[in-house]
Amino acid sequence: MKRDLLTLADLSAPEIDALMARSARLKRARLEGHRPAAGPLGGKVLGMIFEKASTRTRVSFEVGMYELGGHAVYLAPEGSQIGRGEPIADTARVLGGYCHAVIIRTFAQARAEELARWSPIPVINALTDHSHPCQVLADLFTVWELFGQGPERMRGLGYAWIGDGNNMAHSWIRAAGRLGLDLVLACPEGYDPDPAVMLEGAAMARESGAKIRIVRDPREATRGRDVLSTDVWASMGQEDESERRRKAFAGYCLDSGLLATASPQAIVLHCLPAHRGEEITHEVLEGPQSAVFRQAENRLHVQKAILELLIAGSPSPGSHGQGG
Ligand code: CP
Ligand code: NVA
Repeated sequence: MKRDLLTLADLSAPEIDALMARSARLKRARLEGHRPAAGPLGGKVLGMIFEKASTRTRVSFEVGMYELGGHAVYLAPEGSQIGRGEPIADTARVLGGYCHAVIIRTFAQARAEELARWSPIPVINALTDHSHPCQVLADLFTVWELFGQGPERMRGLGYAWIGDGNNMAHSWIRAAGRLGLDLVLACPEGYDPDPAVMLEGAAMARESGAKIRIVRDPREATRGRDVLSTDVWASMGQEDESERRRKAFAGYCLDSGLLATASPQAIVLHCLPAHRGEEITHEVLEGPQSAVFRQAENRLHVQKAILELLIAGSPSPGSHGQGG
């Protein structure tokens, strides 16, 4: 039975914990120079559909497949039939005949869901307007590395999100819900996370004990907190709202004044790319508390663990009939 990763709700808390531990082992092996020629994904192929720009996600998935002994094929709208309107349901079944998993970066979450519905192989969300689960798994792994391992350590920390209630915020809400984290989001009025995602987080919190709330004042979110995360004010596809958003988000810049309100051990996370001087200052991004480049590198280690988890046990390409 194939499994997809469309949002963080697709993983259980023990699975997330196991992914953290596996990422650490993969990271250590890489530092020690192990490059398995025929690694755990030897002979496996990853299809990569990108309908938006990417540096980190594309390169880390491609390098990850290579290092696990497999191969990755990049598909952009220009240069493939996807951009000429071939239905995603058809693409899903065609790729299912060649590949062992497929990642998709696109606009609507519904498009990733449709791909998954028709795909006989695992589908991984490589960012939609709605969520960015692989990034937040890498963020969690960064916290896991820097603050000590294990679910209890993760639960003992205070988490803050400053800025837009966007795809990244949504994935943080689900992560908090699943793992029982204490997360405060400071968002300007009109830019809150999707209420449906807040409800999903609240439902998970009833089981995990998570605390998830939205405030307006960034200082209320950062005071005494250990993990401060932010992201651009205008995400991909929102470029024409940049001016309006710059005004709405004034006061939500993660600067040294805001960082000073956090716990002395606090770390700063940003998924990158960053707009220095908007959502974060150059000083904070490059400062001693910033973990952003470790966080970016961790995409590789975590995604290798995700690929192993999802590809192992999935059906072989071509083993399906008409699909659907
Ligand atoms: N953080 C992230 O997903 O970066 P890219 O857009 O470069 O993939
Ligand atoms: N929220 C940003 C994240 C980029 C990795 C965007 O969607 O553009």
